[in-house]
Amino acid sequence: MSTLGTRTGTTSPRPGELLLKVDGLAKSYTSKGKRTDIIGNLTFSVNAGEVVCLVGPSGVGKTTLLKCLAGLHPSTGGEMSIDGRRIYSPPPEMALVFQDYSRSLMPWLTVEKNLRLPLRHLRLPQSEVRTRILDALAAVGLSHAAKQYPWELSGGMQQRVAIARALAYRPEILIMDEPFASVDAQTRFDLEDLVLKIRDDYGMTVLLVTHDIDEAVYLSDRIVAIGLRPAVVLEELTVDLPLPRNQLDTRALPRFAELRNHTLSLIQHASAKPTPSAMEDAVPGAAGAPA
Ligand SMILES: Nc1ncnc2c1ncn2[C@@H]1O[C@H](COP(=O)(O)OP(=O)(O)OP(=O)(O)O)[C@@H](O)[C@H]1O
Ligand SMILES: [Mg+2]
Repeated sequence: MSTLGTRTGTTSPRPGELLLKVDGLAKSYTSKGKRTDIIGNLTFSVNAGEVVCLVGPSGVGKTTLLKCLAGLHPSTGGEMSIDGRRIYSPPPEMALVFQDYSRSLMPWLTVEKNLRLPLRHLRLPQSEVRTRILDALAAVGLSHAAKQYPWELSGGMQQRVAIARALAYRPEILIMDEPFASVDAQTRFDLEDLVLKIRDDYGMTVLLVTHDIDEAVYLSDRIVAIGLRPAVVLEELTVDLPLPRNQLDTRALPRFAELRNHTLSLIQHASAKPTPSAMEDAVPGAAGAPA
C-alpha cells in the first residue's frame, strides 16, 4: 500500500471495506416518446483495493452504467453510493479513463500541463502539485515526456498520460472504460500490468470495463458479468488466481482457462437482445405515444 495518501486526505475505507455500492440501479433513455430500458435492477459493489472488471455483450449498457456512476447521467431508479455517500453528481473520489485518449487529452497542452489541469480544483500547494505530477509520470514510465505534447507521443504513451493524469489526482477509485482497446497487443499487456502495479503501489481501487475476457480474468480480483435487456448482473466470479500475476505464467494456468471459458459462455448466452416486454414502453403523454 502506498504512503502517498488519498486525494482528499480524509479517512477512506480500508482495503477490503465497502467503497462503491450500486443498489437496484435502473436507467432508461427516452427518445421520440419511446422509453428504452437499458439497465434494470443492477446490484453489485466494489471493495477498497479491489480490481473489478465489468464484462458484458456490446450494447448491454456498460458505458451507460459508468456514466451513471460518474454522475454524468442521471439514473432512473435505485441508488449508488461511494464511501457511503449517495452519488448525484461527479464524485470527487473518482477519476475516469476512457478508450479515446486522443480526445481526452488537450493537444495544445504539454503532458505536464495536462496532468496539472484537474488538480486546479484541489487547491494544493504548488510543491505538492509538482510532486504528484512527477510521481504519476514516473509510475507510468513517462518522466522523460513531461514537456512533450500528446500528439508527439504514440497511442500507448498517450494512454499512459491519461492514466498518469488520473493518478496525479489520487482518486479513491479509478474507473476505466475499454481503456486499452485502441493499442497494440504488446502495449495492451504492458498497460494491464501497469494497472496491477498502480493497485499495488497506490492501493487504488479499480473498476474497469473490457470486451476482452482474457484481460478481465488476468486483471480481476472479481468479475461482474452483466447481460440481458434491461441489464442485470448475471454472475459475480471471484478470480482465485495467484498474485502477483504474470502475463506468461498466469495465462498458462488451467484455472485461467476455466475462468475464461466460464465467463465467455455467460456472455454468449446473454446477448443484449431486448426481451419483448422490457424493450420499449410508451411514455404516457409523450409525443407519438399510443393513446
Ligand atoms: N444518450 C443515449 N441516448 C439514447 N440511447 C443511448 C444513449 N447512450 C447509449 N444508448 C443506448 O444504450 C444502449 C447501451 O449503450 P452503451 O454504450 O452503454 O453499451 P455498452 O455496453 O457500453 O456497449 P459497447 O460494449 O459496444 O461499448 C445502446 O442500445 C445504446 O444505443
Ligand atoms: Mg461502451
